[in-house]
Amino acid sequence: MKALIASGGRGTRLRPITHTQNKHLIPIANKPILYYAIEAAVDAGIKEIGIVYNAESREVPDYVGDGSKWGVRISYIPQEKPGGLAQVVQLAEKFVAKDKFIFYLGDNMLIGGIKRFTEEFEKSGCNCYLTLAKVKDPERFGVPEFRGGKIVRIEEKPKQPKSNYAVAGIYLYDHHIFEAVSSLKPSARGELEISDAHTLLIERGLKVGFTEITGWWKDTGKPTDLLEANRLILDNIEVRNDGDIDKYSDVAGRVVIEEGAKIVNSKIRGPVIIGKNCIIENSYIGPFTSIGDRTEVRNSEVEYSIILRDCKITSVGIRIEGSILGNDVEVVEAVGKPQVHRFMIGDQSRIEVA
Ligand code: G1P
Repeated sequence: MKALIASGGRGTRLRPITHTQNKHLIPIANKPILYYAIEAAVDAGIKEIGIVYNAESREVPDYVGDGSKWGVRISYIPQEKPGGLAQVVQLAEKFVAKDKFIFYLGDNMLIGGIKRFTEEFEKSGCNCYLTLAKVKDPERFGVPEFRGGKIVRIEEKPKQPKSNYAVAGIYLYDHHIFEAVSSLKPSARGELEISDAHTLLIERGLKVGFTEITGWWKDTGKPTDLLEANRLILDNIEVRNDGDIDKYSDVAGRVVIEEGAKIVNSKIRGPVIIGKNCIIENSYIGPFTSIGDRTEVRNSEVEYSIILRDCKITSVGIRIEGSILGNDVEVVEAVGKPQVHRFMIGDQSRIEVA
């Protein structure tokens, strides 16, 4: 079995972060989202991984590398223009060859891995095996319609969903999917829809099975999804301290402090991860916060937030909560009179002030 991972798309709902960074490389608990997909495939015993990336930028291949750090082979398949997930599958036909494969959308996150799915798929004799998750907002997803316990159709982002399930971005296929994706016509939004390929397989009488994801699953499309994913991953981290905590500080709960980080006269309440060479001074870092490498927090309070690398947060009067700060961001005290808010903010940013 091989794995095909999608890392294209523009990540428009995650701007401004995605103006300068591929959304799949945004860190959750200080690790790129895409690494969770790769590691899930590695843990399921898969040795050959293909990653489809947006041809406009080599950011993903350059960052992720050839797979040797996981002991697997990673090949890269460029996508010239975003043309839908079924197009991603089309592009991978040569890479997949005659094998069965798992198609994993690199922005989907899942607790518990994918081994269960690969095993069930192999046993089932299905041509296509879908993973479903119960959701409150099915209209955001591909939605299955059931009849007599079987899926009869998948509708992409329906206005009136026929069930309260989403088809999660983790699909298992044999070679029949290539015939299906090659006979699709673009949808109203101009894309080759993976949901249409699934419906076509059903119409052609192929065996389409499914399983329910009962644990936690998330499509990290929106900022609130990132914070929620960060919370879940941090909730499961193993306590570790490779940094330096001074005697005036108080660190409790699940906390990871990386090498070179200094905690000075501060209170840390896990789950929290603090990256390499950070400085946390006279501050409070509250539950579900990830802080990237070399970030400095002084005289401030941060909680339930994702702060990326090389940021500076200094003397911010009110606790920062539910926030995402990109790389090299500064939130600092305005000194002098008059007392003001002073902003230097890029396109499509959002600031809430109290
Ligand atoms: C895509 C698929 C959709 C699926 C979802 C899962 O949607 O088109 O069928 O339910 O992934 O994450 P997108 O996230 O591209 O809007």
